[in-house]
Amino acid sequence: KYQKIRIYILSNLIYCKTFVPQCPNIPVAERVDCYPDAGASKGCVQRGCCWSPLNERNAPWCFFPTNHGYTVVSEGSSNPYELTARLKRMDSPSLFGGDIQELVFQAEMQTSNRLHFKIYDANNKRFEVPHEHVRTVSSNPSTPLHKALRITREPFGLTVRRSDDEKVLFDTTMAPLVFADQYLQLSARLPSHNIYGLGEHVHQNYRHDTYWKTWPIFTRDSFPNGVTLQPAPAVTFRTIGGVLDFYIVFGYTPEQVVAEFLELIGRPVIPAYWSLGFQLSRWNYGNLTEVKATVDRNRAINLPYDVQYTDIDYMEDKKIFTYDKVKFKELPQFADYLNEKGQKYILILDPAVATSKRVGNAPYESYDRGTAVDAWVTYSDGKTPLLGEVWPGETVFPDYTSQNCIDWWVDEYQRLYTEIKHDALWIVSQF
Ligand SMILES: *[C@@H]1O[C@H](CO)[C@@H](O)[C@H](O)[C@H]1NC(C)=O
Repeated sequence: KYQKIRIYILSNLIYCKTFVPQCPNIPVAERVDCYPDAGASKGCVQRGCCWSPLNERNAPWCFFPTNHGYTVVSEGSSNPYELTARLKRMDSPSLFGGDIQELVFQAEMQTSNRLHFKIYDANNKRFEVPHEHVRTVSSNPSTPLHKALRITREPFGLTVRRSDDEKVLFDTTMAPLVFADQYLQLSARLPSHNIYGLGEHVHQNYRHDTYWKTWPIFTRDSFPNGVTLQPAPAVTFRTIGGVLDFYIVFGYTPEQVVAEFLELIGRPVIPAYWSLGFQLSRWNYGNLTEVKATVDRNRAINLPYDVQYTDIDYMEDKKIFTYDKVKFKELPQFADYLNEKGQKYILILDPAVATSKRVGNAPYESYDRGTAVDAWVTYSDGKTPLLGEVWPGETVFPDYTSQNCIDWWVDEYQRLYTEIKHDALWIVSQF
């Protein structure tokens, strides 16, 4: 009986004794927030964090100690271009629970200017974004991995160098890795304040502000999915699921880096030169005579004018893949009328498809053909088409994720293209 009590007390003591956050003089600019949920207080020490209030509010008062994160238990490689390491979580309190104890770190040189690394659960498969557009590497990289990547074992961290001049580009040793079921975080010191990119926002400046700025991603205005920039300069990535999967491309100029990046993700389509010109579009010209009168009026005053549109009022009762054979009788040749003077014609198309019949109770064949191949978005039963109310009245919606729908859409569009000449198409978003 006594023994039991003694063991209980002892284990409590061991727990208290084992973890003391090590908080050396970490420069304020390099503090990584250990309390990203609002309202940090001295109690953050119970999370194993360091606590040191400041005069300013932006820099974290509660920040990561140096003895948090993971350690490398083994590492190996089968060729000079790759490395696999196994990581084990250090004994330390958890931020939010669900910490994954064993991880795999995997790195490979994919080209002489591209490093790929990934950190994932060693024992359980987790969600990964499918990479259908990231092509696998075909050529052999000429730079061995050790020239670009170095690993620190305790705590685990990685340093990425540009192999030509040894410049350090990405250094995660400044803060620990956190890898829990619903909270993943990786920080890196960066070589300069020239930080660009990050989607999901209308950025006011191309170059980012590194004064304690967090850009949420996939959320409107809050954590935890996001990217934090701080004055070190450094970046912290936080996410609530999946794995950590990074590509680092090397180059000396923005042009070189962009070229390397496009090598990875594929090159964009170069738009037609004329599509960058002046364009005129409005809804409800009413009839083609009126459209032509508009074109003539603007030509007469030599207005710079490359493209004319017609909006959905060219259609019969706003039904896509049709045109109004009375008010827009000569629409099939309208492109010729514009092309003669070097102008182009774009027609507007909506995705939603009316369920009603055409004028004179005639069948609406585009709708009928789509119905025949189950091209529509359905309820969760996978059968009943979801109905909506859009410009032509009651509609169904093409399910562009289904191959049947894609085939149907291509076929309908080819029919339209054969019927009405045009130079380009504007497909309005889903309404
Ligand atoms: C074409 O539309 C204009 C403007 O709505 C109208 O004034 C004109 O009468 C219409 N012309 C014909 C032939 O329908």
